[in-house]
Amino acid sequence: MEAVLFAQIAEAIYDKGYFVADQTLPLALTETLYQQALSIQAYQFHRAGVGRDENHLLSEAVRTDEVCWVTGESPAGQAWLQWVAGLQDYLNSRLFLGLFSFESHFAHFAPGDYYKRHVDAFKGEANRVLSLIVYLNPDWNVEDGGELVIYAGEAEGAMFRISPNFGKLVVFLSEEFPHEVLPASRDRYSIAGWFRLNSSTAVRVDPPT
Ligand code: OGA
Ligand code: MN
Repeated sequence: MEAVLFAQIAEAIYDKGYFVADQTLPLALTETLYQQALSIQAYQFHRAGVGRDENHLLSEAVRTDEVCWVTGESPAGQAWLQWVAGLQDYLNSRLFLGLFSFESHFAHFAPGDYYKRHVDAFKGEANRVLSLIVYLNPDWNVEDGGELVIYAGEAEGAMFRISPNFGKLVVFLSEEFPHEVLPASRDRYSIAGWFRLNSSTAVRVDPPT
């Protein structure tokens, strides 16, 4: 069903390392995720952390958004994880990426919130391989801000800016592209997720459960 889209994503990742497209997810799924994002109560959102240990002291200067991890307990979460599983299977069979597990969260940026330039994975300790973001903001205007700025590499300038329009999907190699979220003048909702490699050893379970 999603064969064409998955093939486009695989090709773009293989060629350039990233994929960006409008309204790519099935509309019903996007709607469900949007409703879920809106229905998450304030107490279920948590101040986002930075890094594996979610260092909250350090994070303040870097990001100010709040997040709610997807557990798969809600029908919306289940539908999302099912869609992602299809993509994971496809990318593994097509690109041999060895994607092993997936984690994701809803994110809410209140007006003025930001997430400074960062990478989602560091070279050498790479277990986050592929980053995925779906935007859940109907009727977003360029003047509302909140763009995702993607840089071409570690020492490179901005490659492009992406407005967080409803249903837009962004996929990129986690280690390769520094990126940042600019402040918006409206509430900004998204779901962000990461495919990981299996980097468990006999003495360390990764990712921790
Ligand atoms: C992230 C992130 C970008 C966005 O959560 O790591 O970079 O546009 N999000 O929300
Ligand atoms: Mn990021």
